[in-house]
Amino acid sequence: MDEINFDDIKTSRPKNIAVIGTGYVGLPSAAVFSKWGNNVVAVDIDKNKVDMINSGRMPIYEEYVEDFIKEGLANKTFMATTDYSLAVSSADVVFIAVGTPGTEVGTANMKYVEEAAFSIGQNLAEDKYTVVVTKSTVPVGTHKMVNDAVLKGANGRKVDFDVASNPEFLREGYAVYDSYHGDRVVIGSDSDKALQVLSEIFEHLDTIIFKTDISSSELIKYAANTFLATKITFINEIANLCDRVGADVKSVAAGIGLDVRIGKRFLNPTEIGFGGTCFPKDVNALYQLGLENNYEFKILGSVINVNEKQIYRFIDRIVRRLGSNLEGKTLGILGTAFKDNTDDSRHSSAIDVIRILRGMGAKIKVYDPLALNTSKELLGDTNIEYMDNYKEVFNKVDALVILTEWQEFKNYDYLSLTKNMNFPVIFDARYMLDPNVMKENGIEYYSRGRKVTK
Ligand code: UGA
Repeated sequence: MDEINFDDIKTSRPKNIAVIGTGYVGLPSAAVFSKWGNNVVAVDIDKNKVDMINSGRMPIYEEYVEDFIKEGLANKTFMATTDYSLAVSSADVVFIAVGTPGTEVGTANMKYVEEAAFSIGQNLAEDKYTVVVTKSTVPVGTHKMVNDAVLKGANGRKVDFDVASNPEFLREGYAVYDSYHGDRVVIGSDSDKALQVLSEIFEHLDTIIFKTDISSSELIKYAANTFLATKITFINEIANLCDRVGADVKSVAAGIGLDVRIGKRFLNPTEIGFGGTCFPKDVNALYQLGLENNYEFKILGSVINVNEKQIYRFIDRIVRRLGSNLEGKTLGILGTAFKDNTDDSRHSSAIDVIRILRGMGAKIKVYDPLALNTSKELLGDTNIEYMDNYKEVFNKVDALVILTEWQEFKNYDYLSLTKNMNFPVIFDARYMLDPNVMKENGIEYYSRGRKVTK
């Protein structure tokens, strides 16, 4: 990835910006807006989080965010608060970046967005124009609800605002990098004035600012995420097929990725399917949006089915090797986060796999470079040991299972580490290791759809 010289990239038109929500989208966004030279106030209803942030400690891990926030706090260009009025009354732009968790039927829960919009309406100044922007992933048409909720909050006061959409494309773990190096910024509004004010926040970046109407902007976010989830699912199915026909999925991915119409990114297969708080939720939500509008989005139905089955295919492979009763067996696990470079293990397929293996009687020793704390909250302590050092998950275990694509996992000295295992058996759900090297070293290695060529 390219190095960024952060201090060279500044806005020439600083704004007063409020960001509502300090999660994985809100906090990094607030941090970069502040670093770009704006005055930023971040709002959260959770006082503990607000106190933490104001003392320079971050409730989430994301590279560079802590440095940017500390700098903003020191320069008095950033603060966090629970008080909407402090943030909203003088804001030129208010970003709503609260959670939209999936409901049981797969739609997005808009409760927090609606509450935020209502509170914004209560606190807008009467003599100031403000753009109210949804940054959270919201279903098409949400802008109408946001507009109504702001007006309801304003309760008859004459407030001057427009609603806009600025979908977030940043990946967890690379949020700051993506904010500087995004392929595009999408802004949508049915008001030209709002589009102008909003584009000024991003115009110093070397990127395309794509302006469109608000409904299209809302749909672009879902279309992008579900397209990428479909791309991953496609390569996962190619891997399943490679396994049957004796081809190598890494070669196939590299071979098709060279075609610029396809592109090589997001073609890394995973035996346990994609996870996280975005892709599974968004695929479900867009599928549901189709149904609500009398349209069955068939590809997405298949993506959901294939992704759910991946984990069971992987478990089946382990069962065929170790048996279905894992009592008396200890498994070493590398990785619990839903992807590399993050401490987030919410909706991580790795967590689901660990639960299943433990349910089959296995004792677990687990290591993750950043996500052990969040994983412990989900998995508890029964039959599981959390290791500070990766070397310990190799000690006296009956097999090693790799579940997250941390790049450092590629660099371990497997030849010497596997000597500490009861048996040198590795199940690699993330295609991290080279099957040829494993074979040369006498390690029994399983990775679906890989070919040993030597
Ligand atoms: C995703 C999108 O990539 C972002 O553009 C978007 O802003 C974000 O959702 C969001 O809606 O907030 P994120 O969920 O943070 O970002 O992480 P990704 O890097 O996209 O990974 C998602 C899942 O797909 C992970 O489980 C990851 O391991 C898996 N994945 C990703 C693969 O299995 N193969 C790949 O080639 C890429």
